[in-house]
Amino acid sequence: MNIKENLITAKTLGRRQAWLTAYDYPSARLLEESGIDLILVGDSLGMVVLGQKDTIDVTLDEIIHHLKAVRRGVKLVPVAADLPFNTYQTPEQALNSARLLVEAGADAVKLEGPLPDQIALLVSNGIEVIGHLGMLPQHVREEGGYHRKGKTESEAEAILQASLDLQAAGCCALVLEIVEETLSEEISRQLDIPTIGIGSGSKCDGQILVTPDLLGLQPWFRPAFVKSKTDLATPFQAAVREYIRETKEGSPKLNNGHD
Ligand code: KIV
Repeated sequence: MNIKENLITAKTLGRRQAWLTAYDYPSARLLEESGIDLILVGDSLGMVVLGQKDTIDVTLDEIIHHLKAVRRGVKLVPVAADLPFNTYQTPEQALNSARLLVEAGADAVKLEGPLPDQIALLVSNGIEVIGHLGMLPQHVREEGGYHRKGKTESEAEAILQASLDLQAAGCCALVLEIVEETLSEEISRQLDIPTIGIGSGSKCDGQILVTPDLLGLQPWFRPAFVKSKTDLATPFQAAVREYIRETKEGSPKLNNGHD
């Protein structure tokens, strides 16, 4: 599968990308059957599955474990996986880490930040790479929160230049996280590869969201830019409460193998 060619063709034809994350077999299978364009095994895993406060402690082994489950649920749609924090500090380390993700079933890897040397080495070794600029969640501790990027002229110029550099290094697509809409629009205009926005307005060539945010599965935390499409936490808890009540009452409604 040549992901980059397909993505550039889609952009040329004006076909927008709808991407989501998955961390397990059933979700991946449901996403593919729903028509999603790409599934990302994101390091958001740490926050939405493992109960961690950010993405920084996620390990390569954890991504690989969940990537293998996702892979089993997907037939045709590309599956990408995040390189976790501290697994791509040098181009050589990035190559070793990315090879492990590819062996585990990734069709592409994603890494955060303006790191054209890492990206160029991966691409020259036949690995498809998705870039990620703007707010970089793996830097949230040093930045003290999730802040919108590209508000000042100098920051906007730096992000635009980094986007061009990552495209030149060989990225197949670029995620723009919490970037000013005027900037994400300008980057989308200047790049041949698609931009995939998250909290960056509607002018990117596609969007990505963390699936549990979209589905309202975590009522205790929702990023400000997310409009959940549904609230699955409520029917989830209603079903569990009904099951608990019926079990405690010894209700005949429960099917325990006797009709
Ligand atoms: O980890 C993640 O889920 C991401 C996003 C872009 C959704 O990187």
